Amino acid sequence: MHPSTRPAAPDRGIRAAGVVVTTAARMRQLVAAARAAGRRVGFVPTMGALHAGHASLVSRAVSECDDVAVSIFVNPTQFGPQEDFARYPRTLAADLELLAPHGVRWVYAPEVAEVYPPGDATRIVVGGPAARFEGERRPGHFDGVATVVCRLFLAVPADAAYFGAKDWQQTLVVKRMTRDLGLPIEIVVCPTVREPDGLALSSRNAYLSAVERPRAAALRAALAVAETLWAAGAAPAAIEVAMREPLLSHGVEIDYAAIVHPDTLEPLAETARRAVALVAGRLGATRLIDNVELPVREPGLVHGAAVV
Ligand code: PAJ
Repeated sequence: MHPSTRPAAPDRGIRAAGVVVTTAARMRQLVAAARAAGRRVGFVPTMGALHAGHASLVSRAVSECDDVAVSIFVNPTQFGPQEDFARYPRTLAADLELLAPHGVRWVYAPEVAEVYPPGDATRIVVGGPAARFEGERRPGHFDGVATVVCRLFLAVPADAAYFGAKDWQQTLVVKRMTRDLGLPIEIVVCPTVREPDGLALSSRNAYLSAVERPRAAALRAALAVAETLWAAGAAPAAIEVAMREPLLSHGVEIDYAAIVHPDTLEPLAETARRAVALVAGRLGATRLIDNVELPVREPGLVHGAAVV
């Protein structure tokens, strides 16, 4: 059957990609029944426009769980008024095609009014790891993420939920919200999938022009600089300065390039051995983010000790 002719009505079966479910009540029932039968259920929340990065989370979930649910929901509350909610790609037919070979059992694709009923007045506000970086530049973004992820966890009460390290700060926000609210779900973080030139896969890469696309590899190049200097024992401040060079030379307008604690995103203590390198910038109208967790550094190699 051609994808555009596939049924999208509530609970109508789509053989290849699993069953599309549009109501939280039905979704909860299906997951509860599976778990009551002793099955481990995995959940992959997405906003659709699926690519190989999303597929890697789905594969991991399928390999670790008996049944997997994928949600596809472009969440209005995590977009700022000047952001791309209206033009965010919505490609349900292609998304179901991509999911087809993976053995996903359910695709939860609710309407906005199902997640945010008329008159809805409730939000989850996260502090701590949400405060800096994306939180500073996108006011309200992580409140929207936490609110929708909590509602999705209620609709899909799975054993484990799978998130990408690509959105490092988001993983910290989700973990903190889950812990603080005592939600009974395990958070699994999966590695970032990249293009051959190092660009992290992202639904927003589709916005890049032919001229901007090769320049976007500069984000990964900045992270590579961080990896090299960190391994050589350089101080975080020096690494942050060096990370800017590949970005500037490729015409990326820098939002931030930072070396911080991987769990708190706070500045590093003198003796810190763990760190994450974060980068964000703009190419034309497209905003891109990326990060890499740096390897644990030997105690003898702390802050410039091995670098002159
Ligand atoms: P979305 O951007 O669709 O991403 C869904 C999941 O895929 C996230 O956990 C994200 O980190 C992961 N992902 C995206 N690109 C990836 C890549 N290149 N490699 C590995 N994983 C990748 O993130 C969201 O949606 C939303 O904020 C959501 C959590 C669904 C809440 O609305």
